[in-house]
Order: sequence, then C-alpha cells, then structure tokens
Amino acid sequence: MKLTPEEQAFLEGRHGPAARKAMEILAALGSIYGAERLTPVTSVQIAGVSYDNLGEAGLLFLSEMAAGGGRAQVFTTLNPAGMDIENWQALGIDADFAENQRRVIDAFARMGAVTTCSCTPYLFGNLPHFGEHIAWAESSAVCYANSVLGARTNREGGPSALAAALTGRTPEYGYHLEAKRRPGVTVEVSAEVQGGADFGALGKALGQKLEAAGQRLVPYVRGLKAVSGDELKALCASLATYGGAALFHLEGLTPEAAQFTPPGQTLTITPADLEAAHRALNDAAAGEVDFVSLGCPHLSLNEIARLADLLNGRRVTKEFWITTARPTKQMADRMGYTARIEASGAKFAVDTCCVVAPIRGRFKALATDSAKACYYAYAKNKFKTRFLPFDEVVAEALR
Ligand code: F3S
Repeated sequence: MKLTPEEQAFLEGRHGPAARKAMEILAALGSIYGAERLTPVTSVQIAGVSYDNLGEAGLLFLSEMAAGGGRAQVFTTLNPAGMDIENWQALGIDADFAENQRRVIDAFARMGAVTTCSCTPYLFGNLPHFGEHIAWAESSAVCYANSVLGARTNREGGPSALAAALTGRTPEYGYHLEAKRRPGVTVEVSAEVQGGADFGALGKALGQKLEAAGQRLVPYVRGLKAVSGDELKALCASLATYGGAALFHLEGLTPEAAQFTPPGQTLTITPADLEAAHRALNDAAAGEVDFVSLGCPHLSLNEIARLADLLNGRRVTKEFWITTARPTKQMADRMGYTARIEASGAKFAVDTCCVVAPIRGRFKALATDSAKACYYAYAKNKFKTRFLPFDEVVAEALR
C-alpha cells in the first residue's frame, strides 16, 4: 500500500506512539484487503466500549493509546457502554464494573472521542452526508450510514475504528470503492411490511437468503412503498445481524438506488418468508417473560413519545428497560415523556443496552421488538426471546 509522506511520518512515530500504532493497524489491514492507499475520513464511530466486552485487556489497550498521546483527528463518537453512565445503580450494575467502565470512558475522552455511547449517532450530530468517506464500527449504524445516508464505510472493528480516529484515515477498499457498491441481486418483496418488528423480520429473512446464496451480494430491494426512519433503523440492525450486510439499496427510497438497474439474479421475500422469520425469532420455550426492553437500536424521540402514550400512566409489572442515547433522553425530559414513562415504573437505560450491559444470569426471557436483540440476547446472555411488535412489547410489560 502506498503511503503519503504525511502518513509515513505517522508510521515513523513522529506523531507519538499511539498514532504510530494506529498507522500500523491501518497499514496491516490495508495490505490484507489489497487497498492501494488510505483515504481521509471525516467521521468515526467506535464500537467495543462496554467493559463487559473489552475486559481488562481491552481497557489496558485503550489506556496505553490515551497515554501514548492518541488524539482523535476527526469527529468521533462512541457505541453503547455497559451501563448508564449517570444512573448505573438503578440498573443493578455493581460498583466494580462501574469503576472499570468509567476508566474506559475516561480513556476515550482523553483521546478526544465524544462520549455519546449510542449506536444511533446519526440521530444527534454524527450525520455524514452523501458520498462522504467515514470509518464506522457498529454493524447497524454501518448499514444505515451506507444504505440510508449514502456515506461510505466498511464495517470496522473497535481497533480499526480507533486507528481511523487517531489518524483521520482508513484503507481504501470495499465500500469506499464505487464498484463494490453496485447491487448484485434483485430482491422482490411481495410481503406487506409494516412497523419495526416486520422490518426486523424482513432483515432476518433476507439476510438468511443472501447467506444461502453463498456470496456477499449487495441487494437491490423492490416492492417496499414507504419506509420510516425508525423502520430503516430496524431493517439495518437485523440485516447486518443475520446476513452480515453492510449496504443495501431500496428502489425509490434510498439515495444510490436510482444509479443502478436491477440485477438479473433474483430472490423473493413472500408473506410466508416473513411469517417464518417472525416465528423463528419467537422462542416457543420462552415461558414467562421477566425482562422487557425497547431500544435496539437506540430509540428515537418519536418512539419514546409513542411509548409514553402507550403506557398512559399504567404500571409495568416487569423489569422494563428503555435504551436510548443521552441527547435523545434530554429532549424526552424536556418534552415531559421521561416523567410519564418513569411514572409507570419503566427504567431509562441510557448509554447502554440489553446486549452490552453485564446482565448474564439475571433474567430468563426477554420480550423485545428487535430482531438483533433476539440474536444477541440469546448468544451472549442465553435469554429466551419473545419477538413482538412495539405495542405488544409494551402490553407484555404491563401484563
Ligand atoms: Fe445498539 Fe445494543 Fe442493539 S448497541 S443495535 S442497542 S445490541
């Protein structure tokens, strides 16, 4: 890979040991993926923020990078942490974990990352525009940035996103290149798809069909008439989870779709496929639900308003976490939604989520409207899952 003299200076340690390490990571990745050069990026989203996932080794790496003079060169935001940074006691997080999580956040803050701790950075300020090269981790946000915003990013890991932040660059391969963004398969959706849970089920059905087709093809999806931002958020999270997709085009809806003609190879998603995905996400042996969560990906203000209306002053009977970003919660505070929701006994779990918080063993069965949360709640925490539309999740919390 060809480096500019400026990039070579990073490698020679002229910007300090952390920046040198970052450039070593990027150079190694670039040669693995056959990149010819690095490309400047304008925005970074870093995943791997929860101490539950990082452990002591991850914290040590971050502390060394901060001590080695690492400083973000571009606007950099963070994925959810393992707890609500301000209100962790209410979620039953223990003090040792909280201390370690604080050290993680401090290390990122010393490196100049904005400690947003959310997987929806595009809802409050980290909003790259069409064609912008960025380096984002967090699979749902990557899929959203590429597909909905038309920005350009590969699916970065925690270390490679941090390396991009500290140098302002990323290897130019994959979805940074025009040719790799071309659709390879047309997907005809004949099912009626409405609401976040349906779009989550669509992501699972489509992801599994793409995987079965055996290639990482960019899908060009036809047949969807109107899609809200919240539904797109759900589709991105699910498709990234079940098919590993980082980019799709929706005919007439997403910004790059008009540049392409539908590919010859075709897949279909029928009502039966959608129904099968719903069934598969519902664990028949789930039994009594003892944990309810909305907000995977993090809830928008619109969804919080809807929740306040649905609860309508009634008391919940189960542990119910509302996961969202701090800026979204602040707006909900101002609008009076927070007080109405908390009056029901539901808890805001800001900065975190039901997957990255350290809650293994605390619950048996989770009710959620998120196909992604179903996957990871079982894979990470062994919770059984009830996958329901948003309104029915709320009804389950009240039952
Ligand atoms: Fe976000 Fe956690 Fe879901 S990071 S996408 S709420 S698993």
